[in-house]
Amino acid sequence: MTVTTPLRLRDVHAAYDGRVLFTLPEWQVSAGETALILGPSGSGKSTLLAILTGLRRPDEGTVTYGDTDLYALSETARDQFRGQQMGLLFQSFHLVKAFTVRQNLLLALSLSGRPVDHERINQLLSALNLQGKADQRAERLSVGEAQRLAVARAVIGKPAWIFCDEPTSALDDRNAEAMLSLLKSQAVECGAGLVIVTHDRRVRDAFTHDSILELGGGV
Ligand SMILES: Nc1ncnc2c1ncn2[C@@H]1O[C@H](COP(=O)(O)OP(=O)(O)OP(=O)(O)O)[C@@H](O)[C@H]1O
Ligand SMILES: [Mg+2]
Repeated sequence: MTVTTPLRLRDVHAAYDGRVLFTLPEWQVSAGETALILGPSGSGKSTLLAILTGLRRPDEGTVTYGDTDLYALSETARDQFRGQQMGLLFQSFHLVKAFTVRQNLLLALSLSGRPVDHERINQLLSALNLQGKADQRAERLSVGEAQRLAVARAVIGKPAWIFCDEPTSALDDRNAEAMLSLLKSQAVECGAGLVIVTHDRRVRDAFTHDSILELGGGV
C-alpha cells in the first residue's frame, strides 16, 4: 500500500450560499493517530468529514495525504483513492437495504479491492455482537444494529484511514463500548488514522486522542 500519511489541511474554507461555515488555517493527523472533531449541531462537522474524504471540494484550501493532493486528482482517481485508503461510517449509514448483513460486507470488501474473506466477516460480526444476523436483510436491522454493521463495513477493507460521523449515537453503553474498542483495535491493527466526529462524552472519555479539532458557531 502507498504511504499516504499524514493528512494535512491548509487554509480550508467551507461555505454554503455565501455563508462561511468554517475556516481552518492548518490541521494535521498522522498515521496511527486518533483525532476527534467536536462542535455543536450545524457547525459543519459532517461537511468537514465530506471534505476530508474527497466527497465535497472545499471552497478554498487544500487537503493532502502525504504527497497526494486530494482535490488535484480526477474524480475517478479520487473515488479510487477513497475506495482503497478510507473506511467511512456516515451519520446515515448508506447500507444496501435489500442486501443481507453478509452481502453488505462482501460488497465493501470487493469495493476495497480485497478478496472474499468469510473468516474476517465472521470475526467482525462477532466482535460487534451481530453474529446471529449475517443472513438478515439490512432493512430489517434495528438502528443500533445497522450502525454496528456500518462500522464493520468501514473497517473490513483494512483502510489506512477510518472516518466516522457520530459512530455511537444510536447505541447503548455496552454496544458503544464494543464499537469503540473495535474501532480502536482495527485502527491499531492496520496502523490506520482514526478520525471521529462526535458529541458523545463516552467517545471523548474512551479515547486517548492525539488531536481535537473544535468547530464553533453552529446555527
Ligand atoms: N448542501 C447544503 N446546502 C446548503 N447548506 C447546507 C448543505 N449541507 C449542509 N448545509 C448547512 O451547513 C451547516 C452545517 O451542516 P453539517 O451537516 O456539516 O453540520 P454538523 O455539524 O454535522 O451537524 P450535526 O451535529 O447536526 O450533524 C448546517 O447549517 C446545514 O444546514
Ligand atoms: Mg453531522
